[in-house]
Amino acid sequence: MGSIYVHVPFCKQRCAYCDFCSQTDMTLEKEYFSAVQKHIKSLADSTFLVESIFFGGGTPSSVDAKYICQTLDAIRESFCVSPNAEITVECNPESVTKEKVCAYKASGVNRISLGVQSANDKTLQKIMRLHSFEKAKEAVQTVVNCGIKNVNVDLLLGLPDEGEKDFFQSLFAVAKLPVTHVSMYALEVYPHTVLGKKKGCVYMDDDTVASVYYKAVEQLKKLGFLQYEVSNFAKVGCSCKHNEGYWKGTKYIGIGAGASGYTGKVRYTNLSDLKAYVEAIEREVHPFDYFDPLTKDDLMYEAVMLGLRRREGINLVEFEEKFGISLFEYCPNVAKFLDNGVLQKEENNVFVTCDKIYLLNNVLCELLN
Ligand SMILES: C[S@@+](CC[C@H](N)C(=O)[O-])C[C@H]1O[C@@H](n2cnc3c(N)ncnc32)[C@H](O)[C@@H]1O
Ligand code: SF4
Repeated sequence: MGSIYVHVPFCKQRCAYCDFCSQTDMTLEKEYFSAVQKHIKSLADSTFLVESIFFGGGTPSSVDAKYICQTLDAIRESFCVSPNAEITVECNPESVTKEKVCAYKASGVNRISLGVQSANDKTLQKIMRLHSFEKAKEAVQTVVNCGIKNVNVDLLLGLPDEGEKDFFQSLFAVAKLPVTHVSMYALEVYPHTVLGKKKGCVYMDDDTVASVYYKAVEQLKKLGFLQYEVSNFAKVGCSCKHNEGYWKGTKYIGIGAGASGYTGKVRYTNLSDLKAYVEAIEREVHPFDYFDPLTKDDLMYEAVMLGLRRREGINLVEFEEKFGISLFEYCPNVAKFLDNGVLQKEENNVFVTCDKIYLLNNVLCELLN
């Protein structure tokens, strides 16, 4: 049982903050999807039960919908896709059309994740997005009108020249939309991006970002979006199965340039250069850039790191059954964090206390040292 991630490394324009694997040259589109489908068929395994499929980017909605639909057909021919599988396509508002979404829906797509980022048009321009907030609202409505009711919107916290008030205007505007899920990410400004090189922008300091984050968690809760992971909030029953799989350590197959996969014993990442990926598939060799067999220690480390991202945290019984050692033996510092209230224990689960979750990285450093 597991999931499949398909990377679509094309975007109409690079956003000022982005360092994801994607390019604006769309000329390789046809060749790329032919390689993607060949890759899927080369891994065919009718015993692999697929519970979720995620087309991520880049911008999957920037390519012709037929490529997404053909890729889904190839997946169905090669694996056992559960009738209840969650199938998500990441979309950018400017490339959402009724025709495209209807084609996705007819192919079995049942979840759309839209990058809205902000409700402030000046900010959207500054970060080089190709859409206004009005266009983002229209896109959500188009998706819902086409019959896809499970909709996520991505929102960025800490955007250039935005303060607390600006962020909450975006949050409230987004939460009013007919969506079931909100992902809220704190902006990372990478030095090599347009934003990283731009002078004169003013950013919230880290303490302000943390304080706005906690207030946002509370507001989202009041609006019916419950936190189930550091950056993810959902209406009841609408958490993202695909991402839950990553955090729970289930297997996933990574298809496409730069995509990662996990077999239960090995983690791998495919070549991120598009041409190199296509060539490897043509030569019928594994397109790996990176292939890392995992030891039991690695797996325990990941179980802690990923488990504590989730509100539910780590199940002590499952941890001990899986690894033959208790969480307290593996991480003696857990006891200290339970004493000082950073961690909490309820029945069999250990999790990070709500108002400490933004400190997760520091906590993990001490726990896993
Ligand atoms: C991989 S992107 C693809 C989604 C889609 N292309 C879009 O931009 O709307 C997924 C999400 O990652 C987030 N993201 C991208 N760059 C980021 C950064 N530098 N810091 C924090 N979040 C980022 C954005 O919210 C974006 O919607
Ligand atoms: S559209 Fe999405 S993936 Fe593409 S550059 Fe912008 S943030 Fe990155």
